[in-house]
Amino acid sequence: MNNILSRISKIAVGFFLLSSLSAHAQSSSDALYQSLGGKTGISTFVNSFVAIVLEDTRINKAFKETDTERLASLLTEQFCELSGGPCKYSGRSMAESHKDMQVTNAHFNALAEDLQIAMEKHDIPSSVQNRLIAKLAPMQRPIVTK
Ligand code: HEM
Repeated sequence: MNNILSRISKIAVGFFLLSSLSAHAQSSSDALYQSLGGKTGISTFVNSFVAIVLEDTRINKAFKETDTERLASLLTEQFCELSGGPCKYSGRSMAESHKDMQVTNAHFNALAEDLQIAMEKHDIPSSVQNRLIAKLAPMQRPIVTK
């Protein structure tokens, strides 16, 4: 009887350890998402970001035919997924959506700067800003074609 009780308690302790480990894994993998204020926080600074881009004469010509509401919604999804949040980006690949646009490094850097201005405006700490920018850096290769 004692033996059975001790086995059951070991199993219970095992389950407890496993569930706390997976809870920890979840919280550390979505830490950036949480720091960005979750889906609402992301969508708020993305709306400012798109507005700033549309005012930025270094790059705004590229967006004159763009449905900017759709763009804001896809960027929100993309940043949510990239930061470890519970979203699935449903847009086109970066290579596909920017092909034939002749995007230069200067354009890319201008857009990254606008994103930083938008995050700054919404009081996102610079360490958090840098973590999101770092996730976007690998996209330079498929986007910049000139
Ligand atoms: C890290 C940098 C960038 C990211 C993460 C990004 C992300 C995106 C996303 C998610 C879309 C929507 C894709 C779709 O329509 O399915 C998009 C579209 C677009 N992007 Fe970018 N982009 C970046 C850089 C740039 C740059 C530097 C330019 C030009 C200056 C640019 C111009 C555009 C335009 C004009 C569209 C709309 C295309 C259309 O209306 O069909 N993007 N981008």
